[in-house]
Amino acid sequence: MKRILVVGAGGQIGTELVPHLQKNYGKDNVIASDLKDEMVEKLRGFATTEQFDALDEQHFAEIVKKYKIDTIFNLVAMLSAAGEARPLTAWRLNMGALLNSLNIAKECGCAVFTPSSIGVFGESTPHNMTPQDTIMRPNTIYGVCKVAGELLSDYYFTRFGVDTRSVRYPGIISSGALPGGGTTDYAVEVFYEVLKNGRYTCEVPEETYMDMLYMPDALDAVIQLMEADPAKLIHRNSFNITSMSFNPRELFASIAKRIPNAVFDYNIDLVKAAISASWPNKMDDSCARAEWGWNPKWDMEAMIDDMLAAIGKKLGIS
Ligand code: SER
Repeated sequence: MKRILVVGAGGQIGTELVPHLQKNYGKDNVIASDLKDEMVEKLRGFATTEQFDALDEQHFAEIVKKYKIDTIFNLVAMLSAAGEARPLTAWRLNMGALLNSLNIAKECGCAVFTPSSIGVFGESTPHNMTPQDTIMRPNTIYGVCKVAGELLSDYYFTRFGVDTRSVRYPGIISSGALPGGGTTDYAVEVFYEVLKNGRYTCEVPEETYMDMLYMPDALDAVIQLMEADPAKLIHRNSFNITSMSFNPRELFASIAKRIPNAVFDYNIDLVKAAISASWPNKMDDSCARAEWGWNPKWDMEAMIDDMLAAIGKKLGIS
């Protein structure tokens, strides 16, 4: 991987993945693209940037050819909670961007990374130590897209030889760009609200466990997987990865150890409650560990210390 295009680069993952890829592969070898003006503007500050709609296959292909791209990172996505408000738009966006990435990759000889998600799982999936290969019957449009996307990506590998690889991201916690429209977003929002206002009202039930990752581990995973020896990959689309599992009550109790006056309460969002209840409590990520050396470094306590410091600094209050 030498010439990289990150599509949908203006979001939570892209704005941190682009500099991470630049550091590893050289600034000139990473092109960042997004559709929205404000995202492109933000990316322009630190990367070579293109503005196009990932659903426009011709424009997308022109960019790949223009920069002689050999690896596409497709980060275009409408997340789980937002998807339930606009299911058809979510399907068209999530599947359209992936299909174009795969077709262009086939035509131009590129590898493709597209994140999958804990959203591929549903109520009938075993919730504890959720295996790599198990029942995937999600009941969100986001999950339906991610299951279809995993199958389509494997199909493009076996049928056309496109080098497709992916991880099932859990909630990603980071201090850079905010996530948007996800069920796991509470685990980011809480840090801003507690530091700004001393309180946080959570929309996810307090006893609901979900897997999470801190951004530095999420970024390392991408490079490790894309650089992995293909001969060692039994799976491709997609690998369970996780580094911590907690519920809101446990996260807030640990934050309260650092900020004793913080107040936490709940105003449950029924859509988020149903989605989070259907997802794993904790995934088994042993296949990722065995096949490409996944070895996350951040646990919940270290993540909390780092998030409080980083967001305090960002808000100018510490
Ligand atoms: N963070 C995502 C969501 O909550 C899960 O992949 O929708």
